[in-house]
Amino acid sequence: MERLDGAKVIVTGGTSGMGEAVALAFPGLGAEVVFFGRNKAAGKRISEKSGATFMPLDIKDADATKAAIDEAAAKLGGLDVLIHAAGIAPFSAAEEITMENWIDVMSTNATSTYVTNVAAFPYLKGEGGVILNFTSSGGIQGYVRKAHYGASKGAVTAWSRSIAMEWAQYGIRVNMIAPAIWTPMYDKTRAAMTPEQLAEHDKVMAASVPLGGKLGDLDTDYVPVMAFLSSDSSKFITGQVVCIDGGILMMR
Ligand SMILES: NC(=O)c1ccc[n+]([C@@H]2O[C@H](COP(=O)([O-])OP(=O)(O)OC[C@H]3O[C@@H](n4cnc5c(N)ncnc54)[C@H](O)[C@@H]3O)[C@@H](O)[C@H]2O)c1
Repeated sequence: MERLDGAKVIVTGGTSGMGEAVALAFPGLGAEVVFFGRNKAAGKRISEKSGATFMPLDIKDADATKAAIDEAAAKLGGLDVLIHAAGIAPFSAAEEITMENWIDVMSTNATSTYVTNVAAFPYLKGEGGVILNFTSSGGIQGYVRKAHYGASKGAVTAWSRSIAMEWAQYGIRVNMIAPAIWTPMYDKTRAAMTPEQLAEHDKVMAASVPLGGKLGDLDTDYVPVMAFLSSDSSKFITGQVVCIDGGILMMR
């Protein structure tokens, strides 16, 4: 796996799933990490285990998010990598999505991407750096019963490609992850299914994930790719959707 010695890293959504996995692993690769999240008990546990610094944050609060990035960059003495993993993926039939649901998903997933990325920009601009945002196959090919989620991730994709073009002149690389990794978010998705839907889902997954027939592993399938994308080994890659998904989505 790539080493990240001395890299100054901020992670959102750091108390669960894919944010937690990098908050736990990156300090062991030599990075200095500040991670944000809402779950203070999980933040304490992860911090004690990895040495990363925890800061409580609700990512829907734009002013607090900007202040948290300023505070984290001051603590780190700069910034090299922003990993924006916070997100929600609720289920709803499209015609039942309320305005409240829509605003919740768009502000948690899409608006927070704009807020965190722009807040990180002044710190990345000087010497260049990396932004890793999280999109989804739902933002590319649509997602049944998650249309608002798909719309929010479509916004993340278009935003990330736009700033990848605009900020390349500053040496800032912006890539996206389209994961299919087994996390607590997927556990919630599974829990929302009836036993019949779950059985059907597992059958579909077995047929549609070419590598292994199920979602990937946080530590062995996901973290090494995040280390690569955070390091100079990926210095000629920007504006890409990187599918860490066992081959589910074989398209750009
Ligand atoms: N798991 C997958 O295979 C998969 C697939 C496609 C996209 N994604 C995306 O990857 C990212 C990480 O997902 P995950 O699977 O690790 O999910 P997860 O639920 O395990 O983690 C998401 C984190 O975001 C945090 N979060 C949500 N709303 C927040 C808020 N208002 N303020 C602060 N934190 C908030 C949660 O508390 C949680 O810690 C998400 O953006 C998700 O949409 C995941």
